[in-house]
Amino acid sequence: MPSLSEVGSFTLGDRAVKRLGYGAMQLAGPGVFGPPRDPDAARAVLREAVASGVDHIDTSDFYGPHFTNQLIREALHPYPDDLVIVTKVGAVRGADASWNPAQSPTELEKAVHDNLRNLGLDVLDVVNLRIMGDVHAPSEGSIEAQFTVLAELQRRGLIRHLGLSNATSRQIAEAQGIAPVVCVQNMYNLAHRADDPLVDRLAGEGIAYVPFFPLGGFSPLQSDALSNVATRLGATPMQVALAWLLQRSPNILLIPGTSSVAHLKENLAAGDLTLPPDALDELDGIDNTSH
Ligand SMILES: NC(=O)c1ccc[n+]([C@@H]2O[C@H](COP(=O)([O-])OP(=O)(O)OC[C@H]3O[C@@H](n4cnc5c(N)ncnc54)[C@H](OP(=O)(O)O)[C@@H]3O)[C@@H](O)[C@H]2O)c1
Repeated sequence: MPSLSEVGSFTLGDRAVKRLGYGAMQLAGPGVFGPPRDPDAARAVLREAVASGVDHIDTSDFYGPHFTNQLIREALHPYPDDLVIVTKVGAVRGADASWNPAQSPTELEKAVHDNLRNLGLDVLDVVNLRIMGDVHAPSEGSIEAQFTVLAELQRRGLIRHLGLSNATSRQIAEAQGIAPVVCVQNMYNLAHRADDPLVDRLAGEGIAYVPFFPLGGFSPLQSDALSNVATRLGATPMQVALAWLLQRSPNILLIPGTSSVAHLKENLAAGDLTLPPDALDELDGIDNTSH
């Protein structure tokens, strides 16, 4: 099997990471709440990811909450020198598993300390501010207060680099006036391409774009075009969805999520797939975005 490094890399903060990484959200219990049914299996996925060459893991202390970060620490600490762990702050979970904004200075600082403790780190590589104006899609509104708090925690040495999640182009510009933004994590995949202009803008600025729900999220993408292309190329639909993102722009870093070693291997093998022009044309029909 070709090595993962052949998929290329892109800068994330002060390091280059491989363009295929891993998103840890699926490791928590059902609904990203509580512990996983099988913690050994969850740790096995993490170990397999790193053994396969993954050097970029996405997480948050609000997955579980706490359980996902604790699994990462149990499976991988002491961490390999080249592993970049990206986390996010700005929300807490209710007792009913709800996702609630937590963006006051006290809440943001607590979230940074929760991540440090549960991951077993002295400094966090990258922290994304998860903007919660509208939980489901970017919406305008100043983030100056929240981002200033994180920039201060960065100055104090608790965070190396900052990013944004669920952000608009204007919010990114506002944050850049406060501290450098090294990555943006928004929802984007074959069927949801509202961020097309943003992907291109960030590519021009050398900033990583890290799509969440690259496979469609809790209901993975399904379409005849995707299945047809996959069959023609001898690949799986999920591999085609990931290969499309890799070909979309060089600043896209992938963090597909899975709780299964078999799916992890399948997803990482997407780096070996090249989509020819006729496949790209066919896949364009899947876009549900109203441009
Ligand atoms: N910033 C944010 O607001 C935000 C929001 C959501 C997610 N995220 C981050 O983004 C990462 C990726 O998102 P995600 O995990 O929610 O969604 P995703 O990567 O689009 O899809 C995950 C889903 O696809 C399934 N899957 C994975 N590989 C598969 C394969 N080869 N064949 C069939 N099914 C497959 C998984 O189930 P199995 O477990 O059965 O494989 C899971 O149900 C997360 O892990 C998290 O780190 C960030």
